[in-house]
Amino acid sequence: MPKKARKGRRKQKRSRRSRYAALLALVVAVPLLVIALNNQPSEEDNGLVAEIFYSPFCGCCKEYVKYLRGNDVRVEAYEVNDPSKVKLELDIPRSMWACHTLKIGGYYVEGHVPIEVVYKLLEEKPDIDGIALPGMPAGSPGMGGVKTEPFIIYAISDGEVSVFAEV
Ligand code: CU
Ligand code: CU
Repeated sequence: MPKKARKGRRKQKRSRRSRYAALLALVVAVPLLVIALNNQPSEEDNGLVAEIFYSPFCGCCKEYVKYLRGNDVRVEAYEVNDPSKVKLELDIPRSMWACHTLKIGGYYVEGHVPIEVVYKLLEEKPDIDGIALPGMPAGSPGMGGVKTEPFIIYAISDGEVSVFAEV
C-alpha cells in the first residue's frame, strides 16, 4: 500500500475514534446536565419541597404525587424497586407502613396523608420523626373509593406511636 493511502487510513481511523469520544462525552454529559437542572432549586420555592419514594407499579402512589403537586408541593418522585428500604432506613415501625414514603421538612410522611395534616405537621414542627396513615384506607387522597371512617394519622417518635390527628 502506498504511504499516502496508509496515512489517509490512519487519519480516517483517528477521526472515527474522536467521533466516538465525542459521542461518548455526549452520552455521559447529557444525563448529568439533566440531573443538574432537575436539582436546581426554583425561584418560586415556598419551602414545600418533598421527595417521595414508591414502587413504579403503584398506581395510587402516582395519584398521591399528583395530589401533592396540585396542592403546591414541589415533589421529586423516585420510583424504587424496593420501597421498604426507605422505610427501614427511616425506622418507620412496620405497623405504620403504607405504600409510599414522603420526606418533607425534615420529617417523613408515610402513606396517603391528607394535605391539611401535612401542613399541620410543618406548622407545628413537633419533636417527632414523622407521621403516618398506615395501610391504604379507601377515600384517602390518591386512593379511590369512599371514606367510611375517620382517618387516624399517627405521630412517631423514636418508635413510639401516638395519635397526631384525626380527620
Ligand atoms: Cu397507596
Ligand atoms: Cu402510595
